[in-house]
Amino acid sequence: MATNLLFAFAIIWLLPQSAFCITRHYTFNIVQHNVTRLCTTKSIVSVNGRFPGPRLVAREGDQMIVKVVNQVSNNISIHWHGIRQLTSGWADGPAYVTQCPIQTNQSYTYNFTITGQRGTLFWHAHISWLRSTVYGPIIILPRRNESYPFKKPHKQIPIIFGEWWNVNPEAVINQALQTGGGPNVSDAYTINGLPGPLYNCSSNKDTFKLKVKPGKTYMLRLINAALNDEMFFAIANHTLTVVEADAVYTKPFDTDVVFITPGQTTNVLLKTKPHYPNANFQMAAQPYFTGLGTFDNSTVAGILEYEAPLNSSPANQNKIKLYKPTLPNMTSTSFVANFTKKFRSLASTQFPANVPQSVDKRFLFAVGLGSSPCPKNMTCQGPNGTKFAASVNNISFALPTTALLQAHYFGQSNGIYTTDFPASPLNPFNYTGTPPNNTFVTNATKLVVLPFNSSVEVVLQDTNILGGENHPLHLHGYNFFVVGEGFGNFDPNKDPANFNLKDPIERNTAGVPVGGWLAFRFFADNPGVWFMHCHLDVHTSWGLRMAWIVLDGPLPSQKLPPPPSDLPKC
Ligand code: C2O
Repeated sequence: MATNLLFAFAIIWLLPQSAFCITRHYTFNIVQHNVTRLCTTKSIVSVNGRFPGPRLVAREGDQMIVKVVNQVSNNISIHWHGIRQLTSGWADGPAYVTQCPIQTNQSYTYNFTITGQRGTLFWHAHISWLRSTVYGPIIILPRRNESYPFKKPHKQIPIIFGEWWNVNPEAVINQALQTGGGPNVSDAYTINGLPGPLYNCSSNKDTFKLKVKPGKTYMLRLINAALNDEMFFAIANHTLTVVEADAVYTKPFDTDVVFITPGQTTNVLLKTKPHYPNANFQMAAQPYFTGLGTFDNSTVAGILEYEAPLNSSPANQNKIKLYKPTLPNMTSTSFVANFTKKFRSLASTQFPANVPQSVDKRFLFAVGLGSSPCPKNMTCQGPNGTKFAASVNNISFALPTTALLQAHYFGQSNGIYTTDFPASPLNPFNYTGTPPNNTFVTNATKLVVLPFNSSVEVVLQDTNILGGENHPLHLHGYNFFVVGEGFGNFDPNKDPANFNLKDPIERNTAGVPVGGWLAFRFFADNPGVWFMHCHLDVHTSWGLRMAWIVLDGPLPSQKLPPPPSDLPKC
């Protein structure tokens, strides 16, 4: 008996790590279903009739096979935001970048393996603004034989921020692109799909409640899936400990308020009070806004509720005291700057930070708004009668009508894209000073080609054109290390001396400070075509997006395999 057991342990111990990995199958039916919020009932596009959508749960190393069946009239594609997609670019999802969208009554099976990541990510639609209702958590647990670098939490709860629109967001963006004006803003923010009690016509049952026990540690998996808004989040009278960001462990730090941009995820530990507090605690989220236009300045709230001890008389929930959190001012750039600085990679032997120490390819990308001329015989509602646009190095990226990855793989770039994306602005100016008079952008589909495994440094420089803004830039297919950031113009002679090349935070989305710059580095070790864009959807729609081509490496495992047979056609 004892020897048998010993024998079994020995076998488990000798097995390669991959032996613990499994294949997980999911089916995502894209359907229309009715949802009511703020007394407005509307038909939304959703996955399996659920809003927010279902959770994907996996362990590091697992293979995921998700069959997406499109049963709505819109074209759709799904992006597994933050998943590295090592040599599985065909499964990444952005429409017209790595695939043509899935058309009505068609399906596509996404097949990818989760490599070297653990924590929280999310999935969302990646075409137009459909992600307003098509999103859900991705939860990556540590391998079966591994543990967290912190005490195992009692429970884990996804907290996913979103936006609620009484109208159809597709109509909002389509109209805005037509008229050239700024799109309307959302009617509410949501926590796990629920707006909470601070809105008109939002009842108790539309409030997210987190029931906890005293004396325990909970892990909240925070996800910002909002379309256009960066958020502050806090729970009254409770301090949170940040332990992970974008599916990478961080050096733990305590904070009363979390700042999270669209596209970012943050795991925090919540230690509950040692004894039943005889009170409830509001959790709330509000936007951080740096632009000049209008924004949804409302507040979503939920409730942290302690389970009453068994021997107590049932508490009257209406009489019980409710504490409210204090959130920073909605324009508090200083809070954001201080908070962002606290993130550090673990940089341990088990979880090293593989930061490029030298650079093969350097880029300076000016990111910001701009304008396009109003077409003849039209009146436009953008700045001075023009149309709003946005750009990287003054290129407003035009999506092709076919998929870039396909064109690249089959060597058919002709007439689809060129590879002359400027490595730095062609007409440099004082980016954070007085903007130039001419704010017109160039519409083009230009890409950057990177040799396999080159080490890349990108400095993202916010511009003041039509007002500076905090832009959460998201890179597909990679994590990058944020080696530096600051306000004003990046100074190539002075700023690199202060770069953190030891334990910078590793993430897939980072905010370029308003009126400032951010520098990141990564190794281009994943062949394919990779989208990079502002994760404020309004800016993506206006063209604040570009794409990288990363060439194959010499080894078979460093090459992009041929496309799957069911890859959608345009
Ligand atoms: Cu979450 Cu290309 O985006």
